[in-house]
Amino acid sequence: MKILSIETSCDETAVSVLDATGEFGDAQFVVLGNALFSQAHLHAAYGGVYPNLAKREHARNILPLLEAALKQAGMYVEKKMLLSPSLLKELSKLLERETTLAELFLDFASSTSRPPVDAIVVTQGPGLEPALWVGVNFAKALSLAWEVPLIPSNHLEGHLVASLTEQTSDDVYTLKHAPLPLLGLLISGGHTEFALANEWMHFTTIGQTRDDAVGEAFDKVARLLDLPYPGGVQVSQLAEKARRNAYRVIPGASTIPLSFPRPMFKSPDLDFSFSGLKTAVLYFVRSLPEMNEYQKGRIALEFENAVSDVIVEKTRRALTLHQARSFVVGGGVSANATIRKRLEILMQEQFPNVKLFLPSFELTTDNAVMIGMAGYFRALEQSDLALDHATIRAEGGLKMR
Ligand code: KG4
Ligand code: ZN
Repeated sequence: MKILSIETSCDETAVSVLDATGEFGDAQFVVLGNALFSQAHLHAAYGGVYPNLAKREHARNILPLLEAALKQAGMYVEKKMLLSPSLLKELSKLLERETTLAELFLDFASSTSRPPVDAIVVTQGPGLEPALWVGVNFAKALSLAWEVPLIPSNHLEGHLVASLTEQTSDDVYTLKHAPLPLLGLLISGGHTEFALANEWMHFTTIGQTRDDAVGEAFDKVARLLDLPYPGGVQVSQLAEKARRNAYRVIPGASTIPLSFPRPMFKSPDLDFSFSGLKTAVLYFVRSLPEMNEYQKGRIALEFENAVSDVIVEKTRRALTLHQARSFVVGGGVSANATIRKRLEILMQEQFPNVKLFLPSFELTTDNAVMIGMAGYFRALEQSDLALDHATIRAEGGLKMR
């Protein structure tokens, strides 16, 4: 099945074309086209993603990205298309809320012929609603203009499914065998949660953050350390540098031990909380007469250690409470080398019979490939793909199911 997938839930606009084959046990995805534009640098000034700016940028970039992905897939055919007056009316109505996009889209739809795709998959949620709507309305308009079925996809499921694949050659991802039940841990800029699946693609949330997401905490700490947004990678690089220098005496440097809280480490549930940890970093930074590179490194290292301690402990608890046979980690923060390493050690030492899945680096942060993968499995569940434009809505708070 050839799938066109679209992702606009946060600050990455992404479009990809996949050729998906096989079933749950042996699925394979060939990436025929993949185009992505990150707006992160534009949001840097705000220290986080600014929803209306994200919306505007998605609307501005999504058509060129679609063209690029289709060209890469060899599916871009320019041809004068006659749009019937009733279709034009319907498309205009659909794109009423997307003023930046509407005119460009009608132009595009009347000059580009339908590519040979069997389905369009779009991220329905969770995410920033104004941003999600751009992708959803765009996908609906494409589906309507080309008469191609539309499948809504869940961003969180996308992260988890992508982590279950292995890159078997340049453009090919193969689903690895994951025995059920499967425990998922999602750690990203917007989410931190555990999900359990007793059946393939049927997830239940069994724990989540009560305030900030772990990636959000990384980004906020980065800001306190004067690092640009999104700062997760930089914080982790600083921590790594400090770890390597840990036993070296820096002349004149503070030797007072630095310790941040491990929030909810001891609570018996599977919930998280990171806002207190971020506040502890804030107070420590404020207490410093000046913040030099050495201090920044100490803070980054202790922060990363605190986060890893909590994640490892909560995972140990989740795997003790629930008899999972597979454990999959997904989301942007799963790129963090310390967290990956520590989860690997936990699994080897305490849960050697549970199979661990970590994402390949290409698929850790937001992309459209993972959205197409999750959408493919949704499509396999349906006997008949519907051409249902009216009922699909963007849902900022969409849950896994
Ligand atoms: O999954 P993602 O691309 O977007 C969301 O769905 O939120 O995750 C982005 C988050 C950001 O908060 C970013 O700082 C964080 O992932 N991140 C990292 C690392 N790489 C990305 N956090 C810690 N260490 C990293 N190496
Ligand atoms: Zn994400």
